Amino acid sequence: MRSKIAGIGHYVPERVVTNDELSRFMDTSDEWIQERTGIKERHYGKKHEETTTSMAAIATRIACERAGIQPEDIDFIIFATLSPDYYFPGCGVLLQRELGITHKEAGALDIRNQCSGFLYALSIADQFIKTGMYKNILVVGSEMHSMGLDFTTRGRNVTVIFGDGAGAAIIQPTDNPNQGILTTKLHSDGTYAEKLAFINPGSHGGYHSRHTGEEVDYGYPPKDTYGEIFMTQHMMDNGMQYPNMEGQFVFKMAVQKFPEVIMEALKEAGLQPSDINMLIPHQANLRISQFVQKTLRLSDDQVWNNIQKYGNTTAASVPIALCEAWEAGKVKEGDLVCLAAFGSGFTWGSALIRW
Ligand code: ACO
Repeated sequence: MRSKIAGIGHYVPERVVTNDELSRFMDTSDEWIQERTGIKERHYGKKHEETTTSMAAIATRIACERAGIQPEDIDFIIFATLSPDYYFPGCGVLLQRELGITHKEAGALDIRNQCSGFLYALSIADQFIKTGMYKNILVVGSEMHSMGLDFTTRGRNVTVIFGDGAGAAIIQPTDNPNQGILTTKLHSDGTYAEKLAFINPGSHGGYHSRHTGEEVDYGYPPKDTYGEIFMTQHMMDNGMQYPNMEGQFVFKMAVQKFPEVIMEALKEAGLQPSDINMLIPHQANLRISQFVQKTLRLSDDQVWNNIQKYGNTTAASVPIALCEAWEAGKVKEGDLVCLAAFGSGFTWGSALIRW
């Protein structure tokens, strides 16, 4: 038995934020952002009204309708995000509540794999379907980045990239031998965990030098003090409560890992890049996607890019792009669809789907 994507949906908040608008808060320009990333605009959720979970609920309802099921039919939720509503509990149970899924068979799992979160979630769903454990799994990626970014010049290299949005898919079993998920490939390497990270607040207590070998002063109380740490004034004064990224390092890893993991999946399925009807790369940077396209010698028709409109929506970017491509009639029955992602961790992965 294989698993298939039975329905897919996406949602982006109404508010469009252009590059010019960002340049009012920080020293940046439309020209710089477009040239380095391809991004023209992104969407931001309504503060105090929309959340990561509420956006996921909208995308989920659309996916359910297209799969011909009701939200109550979902027996397992896998929620990928790096911008959860709460530190804990995770968004999985919040979404379950919001969708009114009350039956006792339901389970919910949160995935913290950043840009490759949707790929990891899809792969887990695939295994649960294949073992016969569940019949309707919701896989959802959603991000409300706009609530946690540094809107000063200090944070410009990160802030201009990210946008808000959600994408959801219903995964079901299929006994059609010509349809479904052919393979998923997952990888990680924690060596460079801090190269793209959001590390405060955290239980590292300021002594994350244990991992990196470098002493960083977080202004925490002495090592033998318990109980009062998490966010310190020192962190706030120095912008340590925001994500940080060594962009060029991440870029170099991404352009290496994307083609590698796509080829790995193709090889296992006995297929070639030319067999791909639609590649949906995680929308990290248009330059990265163009590099991958060139490396694999794919035509423009074989690759879906929408980072221009949405920026990088992390765990939501693959399902949003897949949903858009499907809505545009570019993903049809029998097509070979390849999903691929790379991001913080580092973690990366791919999936091959016969639609
Ligand atoms: N506007 C204007 N200038 C800027 C901006 C900005 N928004 N951001 C940085 N700069 C400046 C820098 O300060 C630097 O100035 P300097 O030369 O005077 O020191 C200069 O531009 C070059 O900075 P770089 O960081 O070297 O710029 P780069 O060309 O690498 O582009 C970018 C930065 C867009 C972040 C790129 O490195 C990138 O896309 N990296 C990969 C990101 C990625 O794929 N992330 C993975 C997924 S995200 C996830 O997993 C959560």
